[in-house]
Amino acid sequence: MHVRNRVILGGAAALFAAAAVGGHLQAQSPMPTTWSGIYTEAQAARGAGAYAANCSTCHGVTLGGTGEAPAISGPEFVYNWNGQTVGDLFERISKTMPFHAPGSLSSQTNADVLAHVLKVNGFPAGAAELDRRTEALAAIKFVAEKPAGVQPAAFQVAPAPAAPPRAGGGDFAAKPAALLPAPTGVNAPNSQPNPYRRDADFFRLPAGRTMGSTSGVAVDSKGNVWVADRCGANSCADSQLDPIMMFDAQGRFVRAFGRGMFLFPHGIYIDAQDNVWVTDARAANGKGGQVVKFSPDGRVLLTLGKAGMSAEATDSFLEPCAVAVARDGTIFVADGHSPAKPSRIMLFSPAGKFLRQWGKTGAAPGDIEVPHAIALDSRERLFVGDRWNNRVQIFDRNGKSLATWLQFGRPSGVYIDKNDMLYVADSESRSPVGYGYNPSFRRGIRVGSARDGVVRAFIPDLEPNPDGGATSGPEGIWADRNGVIYGAQVKERTVARYTR
Ligand code: HEC
Repeated sequence: MHVRNRVILGGAAALFAAAAVGGHLQAQSPMPTTWSGIYTEAQAARGAGAYAANCSTCHGVTLGGTGEAPAISGPEFVYNWNGQTVGDLFERISKTMPFHAPGSLSSQTNADVLAHVLKVNGFPAGAAELDRRTEALAAIKFVAEKPAGVQPAAFQVAPAPAAPPRAGGGDFAAKPAALLPAPTGVNAPNSQPNPYRRDADFFRLPAGRTMGSTSGVAVDSKGNVWVADRCGANSCADSQLDPIMMFDAQGRFVRAFGRGMFLFPHGIYIDAQDNVWVTDARAANGKGGQVVKFSPDGRVLLTLGKAGMSAEATDSFLEPCAVAVARDGTIFVADGHSPAKPSRIMLFSPAGKFLRQWGKTGAAPGDIEVPHAIALDSRERLFVGDRWNNRVQIFDRNGKSLATWLQFGRPSGVYIDKNDMLYVADSESRSPVGYGYNPSFRRGIRVGSARDGVVRAFIPDLEPNPDGGATSGPEGIWADRNGVIYGAQVKERTVARYTR
């Protein structure tokens, strides 16, 4: 069976299953496959030279990817092409690569480069060269998993898990991240179904008040929806409004607090006791730059960082983007909103004592650049919206990088529900080289699984000209226990609500 068919869909995910699963059945077929020995060693050697000259600057010398381009080796890549044909991959390379000069290489060179790519991915060489005509290659099936009886290759994809994953661990928990069934969706990142309907104008604000720019929305255990807006504008600097607003589950305004305490409310988080945590990503004139914990009725229970101070210290923040709280009360803060400046994840005790931190600015695995959002899954792995790197990066509590997922786009917001459904808001992907460069991804919300990394739904952003501006659509994101999604929008100054 195709790997996507093996993925066990639970809870809300099952609703997407019929539409999202490609349904490729890979029965015994006479069609040659990537395991049939479809290129020669000599051809792959030629291809290695052409790859070094034309591809390695972006995809890396070992095909492992760089900040410029994704990996074209490893399980994620291989499973993305599983079930397609070698002709499809050949076309992808011939028509769209090299990225800045598509179609500039001869078909012979492309075939040689493809031979090298196949070799690095562990597919065996054979007696005949890989053809340079798409029609011929379309008759060869791209099969990710090594069939029984083929000699072991340099790189092997994971065997099928024997049993479905159980909530909170089970089989998957024991496997290294690299061996999990590979995430899909990088090749056709905007193609998942959209089973959601947008509910405009859900929130009823008090008379005279309008919603400002907001990147923070969260839902408490009673279904109340909390929004941290920027005081009806895009800054609270000169405002006497209360930026933290609570609405009931019908969207009716209930109460608000926080006036005079914030400059640029950024991230909001509701903990297991329904306390409301808000980060302020800017600091000036004795205000902002802090992480504040409120009781549901607005009493300040804890303050981290120094008001009005931006510094890379253990008792102050640079630009705190997001906060999350683990089951034992450990506080995680994602600090750093600017590319090229420091980015770090900081841990504090429940009482607010600094414990430790990690983070090196950059694009290598384990590096972080702009940790715009964070969320913990049921195993308390930390999912970081590593925005400048166009990836979600998963860490353990000690800062060890466990996995890097590109398939959820360029993350501004990340939320994980109790069934480990992962919701990621991409408000920035653009195709011109420059800010937000992530050309194959459209902006919008991707919903998938934090366990297997498969994207199952995509809610496209409505902005007609995403390349025309740095942000549009939801940045902050949360889902309630019924799977209703809320998205906080900076540009449009609204909070969108999506129901199925
Ligand atoms: C200037 C940078 C650059 C160069 C040079 C380049 N690529 Fe890419 N490549 C990208 C980017 C960026 C993407 C992802 C965006 C996209 O899908 O178009 C990509 C995507 C791909 C993909 C799809 C990845 C997947 O997961 O399926 C393949 C295959 C690929 N490149 C192969 C090549 C080959 C082979 C060469 C050399 C002939 C090459 N690229 C040269 C930037 C580059």
